[in-house]
Amino acid sequence: MQYSSAKRKLMASDQVQSILSQLTLEEKAALIIGATPWQTFAVPRLGLPAMTVSDGPHGVRRSSDITSMMTGSLPATCYPVAAAVAATWDKDLFYELGQALADECIALGVDVLLGPGINIKRSPLCGRNFEYLSEDPVVAGELSAKLIQGVQSKGVGTSLKHFAVNNQETRRFTVSSEIDERTLREIYLTGFEIAVKQGKPWTVMCAYNRVNGTLCSEHPYLLTQILRNEWGFEGFVVSDWGAVRDRVPSVEAGLDLQMPGPAPHNLQRIVEAVNSGELDVAALDRAVERLLNIILRAQATPKTGTLDIEGHHALARRIASEAIVLLKNEGDLLPLTGNETVAVIGRAALTPVYQGGGSSHVNSTKVDAPLELIKERAEVSFTEGDNSKPFIDQVLINDAVTAAREADVAVLFIALPAQIESEGYDRGNLDLTPHQVALIKAVAAVQPRTVVVLNNGSVINMVPWIDSVPAVLEAWLPGQAGAGAVMDVLYGVVNPAGRLTETFPLDLADTPAYLNFPGDGDVVRYGEGIFVGYRGYEATNRPVLFPFGYGLSYTQFAYSQLRVSQSEFNIDDTITVSVDVTNTGKRVGKEVVQLYVHDPVARLRRPVKELKAFAKVALEPGETKTVTLTLGSRAFSYYDPTYSQWIADAGEFELLVGSSAAAIHLRQTVKLVEGTPFEPRLHLESTVGDWMQHPRSAAILKPMLDHFYSQGESGLNNDTLGADPQVFFRDLPLPIVISFVGGVPGKSPDEVVEGLLAQL
Ligand code: BGC
Repeated sequence: MQYSSAKRKLMASDQVQSILSQLTLEEKAALIIGATPWQTFAVPRLGLPAMTVSDGPHGVRRSSDITSMMTGSLPATCYPVAAAVAATWDKDLFYELGQALADECIALGVDVLLGPGINIKRSPLCGRNFEYLSEDPVVAGELSAKLIQGVQSKGVGTSLKHFAVNNQETRRFTVSSEIDERTLREIYLTGFEIAVKQGKPWTVMCAYNRVNGTLCSEHPYLLTQILRNEWGFEGFVVSDWGAVRDRVPSVEAGLDLQMPGPAPHNLQRIVEAVNSGELDVAALDRAVERLLNIILRAQATPKTGTLDIEGHHALARRIASEAIVLLKNEGDLLPLTGNETVAVIGRAALTPVYQGGGSSHVNSTKVDAPLELIKERAEVSFTEGDNSKPFIDQVLINDAVTAAREADVAVLFIALPAQIESEGYDRGNLDLTPHQVALIKAVAAVQPRTVVVLNNGSVINMVPWIDSVPAVLEAWLPGQAGAGAVMDVLYGVVNPAGRLTETFPLDLADTPAYLNFPGDGDVVRYGEGIFVGYRGYEATNRPVLFPFGYGLSYTQFAYSQLRVSQSEFNIDDTITVSVDVTNTGKRVGKEVVQLYVHDPVARLRRPVKELKAFAKVALEPGETKTVTLTLGSRAFSYYDPTYSQWIADAGEFELLVGSSAAAIHLRQTVKLVEGTPFEPRLHLESTVGDWMQHPRSAAILKPMLDHFYSQGESGLNNDTLGADPQVFFRDLPLPIVISFVGGVPGKSPDEVVEGLLAQL
């Protein structure tokens, strides 16, 4: 029998209500705490199965013993890490990856995949940046939404993590991220908001840390007010593993499932709290109901089948090749023809470094090594070159130099030593080892045709050596099939189309969070505010090594014909921006078209530009395509904490279309006719300037102000201070200004202002 989805929903909710009504208090308490590290509690007498969850963002880490926290995992495909996939900027590819991950979950008996992770890359030192997508919230939100949709299209759930403001590993269980409301909303929550609204993840994972003093696992403002009430999240919230302290306030705040289990003390605590009246049973029921909804939904997808090892290995290779960023290519050294003899240098060619450490670590089904694959294409020599040790080994360098001299081309495989990039700790610096730097320079000194292939999941410092080499490929931590992807790009089978989703600075000290990372003790101040990533470098005019959005191609692109659907618009309009992109070179290629918005005049300080939309387009040589992007009111708005509201100011905005934050090719001005309506929020301490900012309050105050100015020397026009009175008095609270000019007869200054406030 066929049922409509609405009817199925109703039946499911009947089933949920029926199970809920039959559960004992002890069973309810057991349900909101894992039964094992990876499973929920089952109630066989009611036909309720356990639900299984597993890491992680770029591969399924299904524990071989589901009852144990520390055992190894079953083989699965290790895809490129999230930082690499992000560099594709390809929403369709994220969806496809999501579907493949879901297939593996189904084959491995996993109901919910613990990913994607979308925390903002606040500092390049964060040990877990390889697991995250970007320094920009629109990129992180839009790409992760597609991954979520892809996974869930197959009836497998996701867990969007780590909510929220978890941007470092240092003291992650105890640190408090001290952040202002505007920065929270604009930078650290926007990605989650997009992912929740567009992707509708079955679950969201709360972070370990505190936000402004409150544990994320006990944060009603984050878990209930924002996530559910404002964004409409309907799934359940799971704790990060070990993030719960006291189960009672966490239930009340909106944390539905504690992981890992079992945690008998917390179970007991819940039972006692309900019995004593400390915890309202309605709060417990709410959490149980949310869990039941998802457990039953997961159960509807039978977990059977086998892994498509070869098919998924091929997909991993395709994604890895799309992710590679061509950073430098002087004299069109790349692609290689296949006729050159090649000196392959570097241990990473033999033993690939292709994923990071921690909970995302996958037990790969197979791993390709670059050395093996390059041998299929060219005559090669191999020297180890690199020792991953902290000292310079001249013997290794000498061998590499000899090999490089004798070959037509040298390809250096340089990887950040394994275990540098991991969950659980941050990096101390961005540097390669002194040996690696010496090796690159020595090889480049004898071989002008030297290519550096990099394996790292986040920013590294290239300043000491980049000028000495003509070609650099950023291959990231490319997953188990990364070697093939590197071959595809080196030999031009794939035209590199990866673009950076994170700025590469010239110096660690230039990074916007530098002075406030990772904080002191258990406090980290987000002192740079909204000026994260390119927003920060541009605001302080700091030159960078490679800008956000950057990446070269073996072909070239030209931009023309920028047009907008309307040059004047209203706040409820969606405007359409179109641009023609032409492949002017001789190879098939892909370009990432980036649309930034610049707000020249705003009530609050704004970044120089902010990315608001992007698209990837494939073009044959000579081909032109029109790329169309849309912008809604949010693209023009900032979050104003005074009004607890997203506000766009009336006036002009510049639309900037380019191929990186630093390469804007076309621009056009549009005009917002009327800004976002908002009610003035004034109080006794509000300044003259605050009053004059809003037309309604300005109209109320203006007659009195005019009167004060008209009093000449004894009023606000007093020039004995030698200051501009209009500006001098602007930032003074209104009652103080009133008292300075002698007050109003019969009333205290506060009474006068209260009268004005009443008129609002
Ligand atoms: C990580 C999560 C992960 C969980 C389960 C935690 O340490 O922060 O990302 O999903 O462990 O392995």
